Amino acid sequence: YGAQTVNNKGHLEIGGMDSVLLADTYGTPLIVYDTGLFRSRARAFKRTFSDEGVPAQVAYASKAFSCMAIYRLAEEEGLSLDVVSGGELYTAIRAGFPAERIHFHGNNKSEEELRMAFEEGVGCIVADNFLEISMIGRLARGSSRRMDVLIRVTPGIEAHTHDYITTGQEDSKFGFDLNNGQADEALRRLSEIPEIRVLGLHCHIGSQIFDTEAFGLAAESLIGKMDSWRRERGFVCSVLNLGGGFGIRYTEEDHPLEPEEYVKSMIRTVKRTTEEASYPLPEIWIEPGRSLVGDAGTTLYRAGSEKTVPGVRHYLAVDGGMSDNIRPALYGARYSAALANRMDEPHDARYTIAGKCCESGDKLIEEALLPGVREGDLVAVFCTGAYGYAMASNYNRLPRPAVVFVENGEHRLAIRRETYEDLVRLDAEPATVGKEGI
Ligand code: LLP
Repeated sequence: YGAQTVNNKGHLEIGGMDSVLLADTYGTPLIVYDTGLFRSRARAFKRTFSDEGVPAQVAYASKAFSCMAIYRLAEEEGLSLDVVSGGELYTAIRAGFPAERIHFHGNNKSEEELRMAFEEGVGCIVADNFLEISMIGRLARGSSRRMDVLIRVTPGIEAHTHDYITTGQEDSKFGFDLNNGQADEALRRLSEIPEIRVLGLHCHIGSQIFDTEAFGLAAESLIGKMDSWRRERGFVCSVLNLGGGFGIRYTEEDHPLEPEEYVKSMIRTVKRTTEEASYPLPEIWIEPGRSLVGDAGTTLYRAGSEKTVPGVRHYLAVDGGMSDNIRPALYGARYSAALANRMDEPHDARYTIAGKCCESGDKLIEEALLPGVREGDLVAVFCTGAYGYAMASNYNRLPRPAVVFVENGEHRLAIRRETYEDLVRLDAEPATVGKEGI
């Protein structure tokens, strides 16, 4: 999983760093990102477009993992950025990410968030609904800057892993229906705002997708709409954004494609479909989140208590859980694990890895194979880099873990561990009632 190796002490190495040393230095739970892996994935996506001679933007969908350090890394790699809230936008700007490479998403952007997008001068706003279009209109008229806008549509193709469904209409809270006049009406209303330039269409058909077929169908249906706008209104789109959703390998059962393969297939379909319609080749934009950060992240936990339920299972509890990774509890997501300090020993004992939250469903892995665990062993759960820390909470008032970046044998802190003081920082002090008080 990822680029991990084992050193001569039998310890897991991540980015050339001994994981046991990292855990001793920063404490546990600890989320370790191999930033070299992030860079190589980012380069693979970008290189495939440039090799094929297709103008493109690869935007990191930062909902997968957002903090100033990852924004800085995305900027270094020449990525664009997908943000979905004022909070993500603020963090990106604070990290020095160039506003003109930021794409602002969201199905219920507030006027305040949109104003921030105008003031910062983001690269584009992805318009999602009619209320937003009227707010964009108000803000554009009062702004000195012209704003670029993409129209988000739901093409009636929904993909999940290897299944996809196509329907005339998608039951989704996001975007404008492509096929019942909503998208046309969105274009009409946006065209009435002189300060706005419509770049083109956007769709996102799902996440953790393993093949290319659904992306191809989505591209075809969006290009169909673009072509009809050209014929009916003389309007030509310069951008086709096909979203994110490229799958990664959490367990041996997952068989995703390489980043290059997703992109190549997408380019083939877009080239073929536009050539057939004699439509000028648009820029292709994509928004990978999980596939940039997912397998770059590994969580290190300290092994704690155990319990045998005779004939049923053997629990091993770790010092984190659903508070730092809610995906198993929320989606039944599956992960793989190993003992980071004893990688060279046979992993042949069956454990259910549980967290420390007060909830029976707080299990990270139903069936993990590890060596017979001893107190203080270091459990590594792989591929936790996407939607892990990003969805973490303080449930049970557990402080959120530290996040560290490693590359070429060097390590640096990306997010410090929360302290108990951090946990009460937002709490109002309880009113102190004096003896002579009420
Ligand atoms: N673009 C848009 C408009 C999106 O809504 C998303 C993800 C992405 C890009 C990035 O998709 P990715 O490449 O990461 O699959 N919390 C869930 C995943 C939610 C995905 C939401 N949208 C999980 O943990 O599986």
